[in-house]
Order: sequence, then structure tokens, then C-alpha cells
Amino acid sequence: MEKQIEQVLIDAKNEIAGVSDKQALMQFSTEFLGKNGRLAGLMKQLRDLPIEQKRVVGEKLNMLRDDLGRMVKDKDAEIEQALLNAKLSSERVDVTIPVKPLPYGTLHPIEALKKDLIDYFLARGYELKDGGDIETDYYCFEALNVPKEHPAREMQDTFYIDSDTVLRTHTSAMQVRTMESQQPPIKMISTGNAYRIDEVDATHSPIFNQLEILVVDKNVTMADLIGVLEDLIKHLLGEKTEIRVRPSYFPFTEPSIEVDAVKDGEYIEMLGAGMVHPKVLEMSGIDSKVYKGFAAGLGLDRLAMLKYGVTDLRELYENDVSLLKQVK
Ligand code: PHE
Repeated sequence: MEKQIEQVLIDAKNEIAGVSDKQALMQFSTEFLGKNGRLAGLMKQLRDLPIEQKRVVGEKLNMLRDDLGRMVKDKDAEIEQALLNAKLSSERVDVTIPVKPLPYGTLHPIEALKKDLIDYFLARGYELKDGGDIETDYYCFEALNVPKEHPAREMQDTFYIDSDTVLRTHTSAMQVRTMESQQPPIKMISTGNAYRIDEVDATHSPIFNQLEILVVDKNVTMADLIGVLEDLIKHLLGEKTEIRVRPSYFPFTEPSIEVDAVKDGEYIEMLGAGMVHPKVLEMSGIDSKVYKGFAAGLGLDRLAMLKYGVTDLRELYENDVSLLKQVK
């Protein structure tokens, strides 16, 4: 009988080595440990043995049962592990596979223009001054030589927050703030929103974008101003662009000019400018006998229209992707 027990163990060891899935393991388990399996068969024979052999063989059979049980348990764990490994490797994310390209956003045409102009002026030694959209009446008008009853106020009617606080009608307020806070030489630009009460149409909007230029130093002349503006317009519209200078009027500059670009035989209004009015210099604490200044204000919305071929200003505010895509 002991031989038989040994044989069962040898057979079991051979067979278990070839088991590699759950189904085969079930079969193995039934064959050796099942109700009518080989272990059960040996147990039956045990009953017929003489009493003195029963103990020894009984012990051997217990050991066989333990061995078989362990084999099944170990194999089961081995199969589970193999299944898990297979799952892990089949579900692994391949990070080297190229992803679908994401659509890139672009800057809004006005922002792109603003950024380009800021770079242009920083490269020429100008400082960028940041100002708020909300200004006092003083900085927006009074200090720019536009007293309370001045008719020029009507041209720049705006949104009053209270009797002394407005949404700025132009970035020129930043000229005053700069001159108050530093002595010449001054070379600054400032850019941002400006607000005026205007009906929305193809060329008007109550919110628009401006860029302000201010230079104050000894010996600054109108020729310097025109040179700066000509170079700027050529930068914006191309080297061959010609400009036209017209006399104009602003309360804060004397003399005042407006500058047009000549494009396809047509004159396009580009900006207002002039020599800073001595009164404005004095009000900000700068000696107008020693220093002269020039200033200019540029509307960025119209310029963006020109550059990107937009014929209706409202298109710039509609977030139409096909327009945005033109910005490179
Ligand atoms: N602030 C003026 C405007 O908004 C433009 C301007 C700026 C004119 C600086 C002269 C000098 O119309």
C-alpha cells in the first residue's frame, strides 16, 4: 500500500507540472482529491488493513492529502499571477504612440497687435506703464488741459462712476501719471482699454483699445515725433508705406497733428499726436522752459481691422474662430 501512496504522489507531481489553467487544475483536483478520486480510493483500502498497519499508513495518507492540497493551492496562486500579468501587459498604455494633435489657440488679433507693439517699443528703450481703466476726472481731463466746461469733453463723453470718477476715455491719462511720478528724460508707452459713449456699428464700439506714446526731454522736436511715427507705421504696414501729416486739434498738444497712412492710394487715419502742451507739462511738475515733449495715441482696433482685413469692427468681438485662426 505504501508503494501505491508513493506512486500517487509521483503521478500527482508529474501531472501538476503540466497544469497551466483553471480548468486543468479542476480536473487534477477531481482526479486526486475528489470523492471518487485516488486519495479516496486509498482511504477505502485503509479500512481493510490490520490495526497495526492502519496507524502508519493512515499517517502517510494524511501527508499525501496535505501534499496534494498544497499542490493545488500553489498552482492556483501561480495561475492567478499569470492571469494578472497577462492582463497588465495587454492593458499597458504605450506612451510612445503619437497622440492626436490638440488644436492650438491663438492670441486675439488685438492682443497680438498689442504684444507686437509692446515688443517694438521696449526694444527702442521705452518703458511700459500700466494704468487702470477707472480714472479720476482730473487725470482723464483736467490735467490734460480739458477743464470742466471745455467743448472737447463732448467728443469724449464717457461713463461716469460718480461725478469725479470715469472709465478713461483715452490712455492719455497715463501721460500725466508718468510725468507726475518721474522727471525727464521720459520715454513711455501705455496700452489698454478706453471707453466712450458710442453706438455700436461697423466702426464704433464703446470699448476700444489704445496705445499711448510719450517722450519728454530737452530738445525734443516735431521732427522727432514725425520720425518716430513714420517708423512705427512702416513697422505696422510695411516699409514702403507713405504717411501724410495733417494739422489737427487736441487740448493737450500744441501743435497737434493727425497722421494717415497711404494704402492702395487711399488715406487711412492712423493716430493723433502732437507736442505736449506746455500747460500740461507744468501741471505735472515739469519745467516747460527746459523740457519739451511729444505724445501720440493710437487706436488698436482699427489697426487690427486693417491688418487682418476685417471690415466690421464687431467681428473682432464675436470670437469667430475663422478670424482668430488668421493670427499667426
Ligand atoms: N488721446 C487722444 C485721443 O484719444 C489721442 C492723442 C494722444 C492725441 C496723444 C495727441 C496726443 O483721441
